[in-house]
Amino acid sequence: MALPRITVLISGRGSNLAALLAAMDAGTLAGAVTTVIANRADAGGLAIAAAHGVATQVVDHRTFPSREDFDAALAQAIDASAPDLVVLAGFMRVLGGAFVRRFCGRLLNIHPSLLPAYPGLHTHRRALADGVRLHGCTVHFVTPDVDVGPIVGQAAVPVHDGDDEATLAARVLAAEHVLLPAVVRWYCSGRLDLDGRRVRIRDTDPGSHDVLFAPVPDP
Ligand code: GRF
Repeated sequence: MALPRITVLISGRGSNLAALLAAMDAGTLAGAVTTVIANRADAGGLAIAAAHGVATQVVDHRTFPSREDFDAALAQAIDASAPDLVVLAGFMRVLGGAFVRRFCGRLLNIHPSLLPAYPGLHTHRRALADGVRLHGCTVHFVTPDVDVGPIVGQAAVPVHDGDDEATLAARVLAAEHVLLPAVVRWYCSGRLDLDGRRVRIRDTDPGSHDVLFAPVPDP
């Protein structure tokens, strides 16, 4: 049987893309990234994709007169790759309602906070400023409102007294690299059911999917 086709959208370094490709190489994720699309020609993840023999494309938002024109060109590029799933992996453009509705139910995003806390930008800085003890990341289905779509999975990490934005971001990123392949694996094996705003995951151990706690070091 053909593997589910995945198109990944990126804006930068592409470490989450690399985590997906590594899981596929290791045989733990039965899906195929066929295309990577970036909105910036200097996105580092394009080289990661090319090194894996994955087709790449740049749709530069700055070359379009309006957000709608950019969204339409992006949608056309995605459609041409005929994906079963589209993953926003560090894609830093807000997508309009028409775009989101077109890919509804097959569009996932990874966000670096435990939503609904800290939607938007500078999540690590805001978490540190609030003194939270638990932070993390979320993979959710994308809906027209930003960072509020149905949550599929979350991974939590501790916040240490000595943390700064860089150390906390690095700890969360390591958790992202575990969470995103796990969620994409569930999607590709057809185990996700959408029930209103709740996502149910079939055929996993009860509780195993809710929060993937990263290892907590000794106090
Ligand atoms: C990740 O922290 C992701 O959650 C955020 O942007 C970062 C992208 O990192 N939206 P990378 O490009 O996958 O390395």
